[in-house]
Amino acid sequence: MSIQFHEPTGVFSLETAHSLYQMKADEAGVLLHLYYGEKTSGNMDYLIRYSDRGFSGNPYEQRDRRGYSLDTLPQEYSGSGVGDYRLPAVQVLSENGSRSVDLRYVDFQIEKGRQALHGLPYIRESADCETLTVTLRDDVIGLEAQLLYHVFPSQDVIVRSVILKNTSKKTLTIGKAASACVDFLYGDFDALHFHGRHCMERQAERLHLPKGATSFGSRRGMSSHHSNPFVILSDRRATEHQGDCYGFMLMYSGNHLEEMEVDQAGSIRIVTGIHPDGFAWRLEPGDTFETPEAILSFSAEGFNGLSNQYHRIIREQVIDPRYRGTKKPVLINSWEAAYFDFDAEKILRFARSAKALGMEMLVLDDGWFGKRDDDNSGLGDWVVNEKKLGCSMKSLSDQIHQIGLKFGLWFEPEMISEDSELFRAHPDWALTDPERKPMLARNQLVLDMSRQDVVDYLVNAMCAVLDHAKIEYVKWDFNRSIANCYSHALPPERQGEVAHRFMMGTYQLLSRLLEKYPDLLIEGCSGGGGRFDAGMLFYCPQIWCSDDTDAIERLEIQRGTSYGYPASAMGAHVSASPNHQTSRMTPLSTRSIVAQSGTFGYELNPERLTEEEKEQIKAQISDYHRFEALIAEGSYYRLSELDENKDYEAWMFVSPDQKEALVNLVMTHIRANGPFPYIRLQGLDPRQVYRLEGTEESYPGSALLYGGYAFGQLRGDYPAIQLHLISEEA
Ligand code: GLA
Repeated sequence: MSIQFHEPTGVFSLETAHSLYQMKADEAGVLLHLYYGEKTSGNMDYLIRYSDRGFSGNPYEQRDRRGYSLDTLPQEYSGSGVGDYRLPAVQVLSENGSRSVDLRYVDFQIEKGRQALHGLPYIRESADCETLTVTLRDDVIGLEAQLLYHVFPSQDVIVRSVILKNTSKKTLTIGKAASACVDFLYGDFDALHFHGRHCMERQAERLHLPKGATSFGSRRGMSSHHSNPFVILSDRRATEHQGDCYGFMLMYSGNHLEEMEVDQAGSIRIVTGIHPDGFAWRLEPGDTFETPEAILSFSAEGFNGLSNQYHRIIREQVIDPRYRGTKKPVLINSWEAAYFDFDAEKILRFARSAKALGMEMLVLDDGWFGKRDDDNSGLGDWVVNEKKLGCSMKSLSDQIHQIGLKFGLWFEPEMISEDSELFRAHPDWALTDPERKPMLARNQLVLDMSRQDVVDYLVNAMCAVLDHAKIEYVKWDFNRSIANCYSHALPPERQGEVAHRFMMGTYQLLSRLLEKYPDLLIEGCSGGGGRFDAGMLFYCPQIWCSDDTDAIERLEIQRGTSYGYPASAMGAHVSASPNHQTSRMTPLSTRSIVAQSGTFGYELNPERLTEEEKEQIKAQISDYHRFEALIAEGSYYRLSELDENKDYEAWMFVSPDQKEALVNLVMTHIRANGPFPYIRLQGLDPRQVYRLEGTEESYPGSALLYGGYAFGQLRGDYPAIQLHLISEEA
């Protein structure tokens, strides 16, 4: 049993393979958080101390206990306006104008397994998963909160979410409903977060948490390039491979907020959930509101240990099991090869060249539908532009299949161009403020996905294309942030619900398409990696990592992404040199080594390749096939500390049985007479001996782990090395 309730003390213990989480309701019914961290034995409530702090008042019924204050006790789900001045987890407006919420313990339930969610992505049930539901209530306003804890013991993960229910006879308006709140009694913590911008997503930045509040988040209607819904709190001394690290990942693709506060006494609170700015959800009597899930994980083995736990839960319980262990086709994408300038003849020429090089799927990117010869028009008109193509989509798809490739197509379902038939017919289907000119980006507007008629239209429009031609893959794009988040289908008092209803509409559309086409592979995308989150990964097993395909920039983007997400989820392509985003020149071998650490493909004009490049590409594809399982299923190790050196980036994969490893090194700065990169490898079995493929060299695992590998002097522009190690026992 991974969940236990100890009757005599009232302590709930949630145990995973390497972690323990404890809480208990005290005599006043306040659900106290006791502990989260490395496994201990016993009851941790001895850690709670009471002290009379000035300006931290006492609940009325505790007025004789001056040391008892909601402001100083560690809470499991903090209320608001009743004396805990730290970050609230929940905020509610009652009809009488009161904003107070004071939740007290009612009861609990422990169950095997977990219920699936309908309407939101969730962590899929595992054989050993168990669920604890703790019910809290505020009797004054009639609000019930069910705190859900799904424990995944073998994966070292605890998934939290909350269901709020209005049990009163009046309307309650929820202003904030966090998915999780965790209080640490003490600690000297750093926060690792992942900021960025278009073409530079998930840049890892490590900050020492100051006193007071720190927050990261997105108000863009999307999880965003700018701030990923994932934060790691770590001990200040933690390194990649040692030290306590706590991960908080929100399984959500819309507005989100991660808040941390170091309080007057040095306690640390973290609260994560839907961003409260602009959020106001009306809960009528009897209604419930369900938050997205937050994936919590703890590792005492540093950032890298934590990353492997996230990789595992995402591979095993987030990504649809039908993709587990399946090989992803090596694709060629038309975007950087042709942009909007193509017809069927050109695409077929690309397909023939790609097939000759060993590629397996051609993806026709933006520009095949409506009036769309640039990015100013046509979105929403998902009707094949046969005039531009010179044939029907069925004919193009048939010919591509005859060449021996699979076929994929780009869509940007949630968008609408002002210049489109759809907008002319349904201007009210766009999110626009009734009294303002809308904000445009790429000259497009955002469809109101909170409307059922819009979702139904998209199902029909997309199915018409997908039914007409054989299409094995869809690239699902989302190319602007949301503004003017106003639905013409909802009354004024419900406008604060639009952003979340939008996400539910998108998730519904994805679910309905996947139900109808169970073999369809959907790659998520949002101007590159603007919606790279566990919510999208529930539907899309891979997500285009960034519109920046420069191999050297990709090192940082892929490194940042790797803290929370597995390589198998990162769309990564070899593109042309000079690179289209940076004009940098890099060797083809370097570009391939970097792109191989993701779902591999090419994004270049295959007709412009030299004979020598073609031979190299054939070899790269055959190597990728040899390493694909290792990259997709292996443990992942970053081989340098964040910001430790500016001269190289190195990382490796080790197979689950430790019999095979793939080590990658890219020099980002070559120095005259510079030091050699000596790198200690990770994850190998110290008792095994590893042969270095293509050489006569072999090394004991212990030597590579403790003595490291000597890479020698490298020269030139951005050279890269890949080592394939095979155990002599293999
Ligand atoms: C986004 C994607 C690109 C490409 C373009 C097409 O920017 O990230 O890969 O599909 O849209 O407009």
